[in-house]
Amino acid sequence: MNSVSRQSSDNSVGQMFSRIAPVYDKLNHILSFGMDFFWRGRLAGMVDKKKQLQILDLAAGTGDLLIALLRKNPNIIEAVGLDISENMLAVCRKKITRYNLTERVNLICSDVNACGLSDNMFDVVTMGFGIRNTPDSFKTLTEIFRLLKEGGSVLILEFSIPSNWMLRFFYLLYLRFYVPFIGRIISGDKEAYGYLNSSIEKFYNREEFSSLMREAGFQNVITLPLTFGIVCIYKGSKTNM
Ligand SMILES: C[S@@+](CC[C@H](N)C(=O)[O-])C[C@H]1O[C@@H](n2cnc3c(N)ncnc32)[C@H](O)[C@@H]1O
Repeated sequence: MNSVSRQSSDNSVGQMFSRIAPVYDKLNHILSFGMDFFWRGRLAGMVDKKKQLQILDLAAGTGDLLIALLRKNPNIIEAVGLDISENMLAVCRKKITRYNLTERVNLICSDVNACGLSDNMFDVVTMGFGIRNTPDSFKTLTEIFRLLKEGGSVLILEFSIPSNWMLRFFYLLYLRFYVPFIGRIISGDKEAYGYLNSSIEKFYNREEFSSLMREAGFQNVITLPLTFGIVCIYKGSKTNM
């Protein structure tokens, strides 16, 4: 496993993730009642199994999506995990070693939008719960488009707000009260888990985000809402057909 650092300006979001890195996984599992394993597994199962792949996992964090992808898809011969927070990547590095995946993984510490990787490098680009945290989702999507090979696919997993009014009501109660309360108790970081709920509420709805993907150049855009629509997988392809 190679590790490269292109970290120039860890922004405030990156610094926040660096602070909560030691408790990030535990809190994820507690706050999602363990459903985060299922969500990442669903995305990992959507990767093409028929050919050898080079993939890039953006905002890889502590590596749970990257690991699910590698374990479910032996045809991934090379994976790059990129994240702006070195502390999150330090947790990821340990897990990659524990799962014996070091031969297939390189980690890069960098901002998504200043990664310095060449055009058309990857068959698949994934991003789990990351695009909401970048300052400009459209810019990130165009960067993903640039990094994908012709014919490649993007798979994005992100929170969304259920469209059914009753589900939305209970979900907002959970987001506004339960998440910041439990998050603060376990992490001791009031800002981080207040930020989590506000960033989810401010993020695009499914239709808006699909349109943004099309605007960035992706075709065959599909959405797969999971768990009553509280998260969604977005898939799109880079094709000139
Ligand atoms: C909610 S975590 C998701 C981690 C992982 N993908 C998962 O499924 O658990 C979001 C990650 O995005 C990273 N991040 C935020 N802004 C970023 C940026 N501009 N460039 C690269 N990574 C960024 C954070 O450091 C953090 O690790």
